[in-house]
Amino acid sequence: MKIITSIAEWRSIRSQLRNRSIGFVPTMGYLHAGHLSLFQQAKQESDIVIGSIFVNPLQFGVNEDFSTYPRDLERDVKWLEEMDVDYVFAPSVEEMYPSPISTLVSVKNITEMLCGASRPGHFDGVATVVLKLFQIIQPDFAYFGLKDAQQVAVINQMVYDLNVPVQIRPCPILREKDGLAMSSRNVYLSAEERDEATILYKTLQWAKEQIEAGLRDTERLEKGLLEQLKNSPLANVDYAEIRHYPDLQKKKQIEGQVLIALAVRIGKTRLIDNVILEIK
Ligand code: PAF
Repeated sequence: MKIITSIAEWRSIRSQLRNRSIGFVPTMGYLHAGHLSLFQQAKQESDIVIGSIFVNPLQFGVNEDFSTYPRDLERDVKWLEEMDVDYVFAPSVEEMYPSPISTLVSVKNITEMLCGASRPGHFDGVATVVLKLFQIIQPDFAYFGLKDAQQVAVINQMVYDLNVPVQIRPCPILREKDGLAMSSRNVYLSAEERDEATILYKTLQWAKEQIEAGLRDTERLEKGLLEQLKNSPLANVDYAEIRHYPDLQKKKQIEGQVLIALAVRIGKTRLIDNVILEIK
């Protein structure tokens, strides 16, 4: 596996790979089994697999965890080597942003709600870095976890609107045995918080059961979500919402493809989780 830190170096390698299909897994590192499942899927359908490891300052707000975001490049590289990944692109912040950026990619209509409401500017940062990475890597396929369902919707919309020639592959959420969605930020949780963090999954399961039992009133189910989340004394709710997916519009009645999305602070750690259901 080759580790690349310079854009020019990758461009020169990329020009030699013209007839090979390229699968790309963009990450911010501190990999877990959820990321590895994206690499597995990439390996199944591409000749060459490249992952990026880059903690993107542009998608963090001023009071967010950019400086403390967990990083362990050595361990990440070892795991990817064991998985037979071909290349890792791990640029510095200076390589990606040599001077203050004047161009931002801003996807409208689906970024004002959910995480976009609580993290203003976050999705501009995500869309901008992902487009930059697509321009640099020039992949055929790119793999994203559905734990960030809004991010997947934003990237799909950007690719569609800007005719970016990359096929987006959304991949299922990977969970710990007790249901907690895998996330690099889980490392922040104390033992007690880690136990309480299962409240997100339990609440989503409860909501799924309510819908299966015939509940279709969005407002009633959203109230129920908040009630369920009260079962954890440590849970501080950012949002608990039901939205049509992927347009993220709010509907009175639960129908079609719906996203049940939660963002909850457990102690100081903000966790997100969701389930997407197809309702006939
Ligand atoms: O999902 C992430 O890890 C990041 O938002 C991404 C897509 C790598 C962009 O920095």
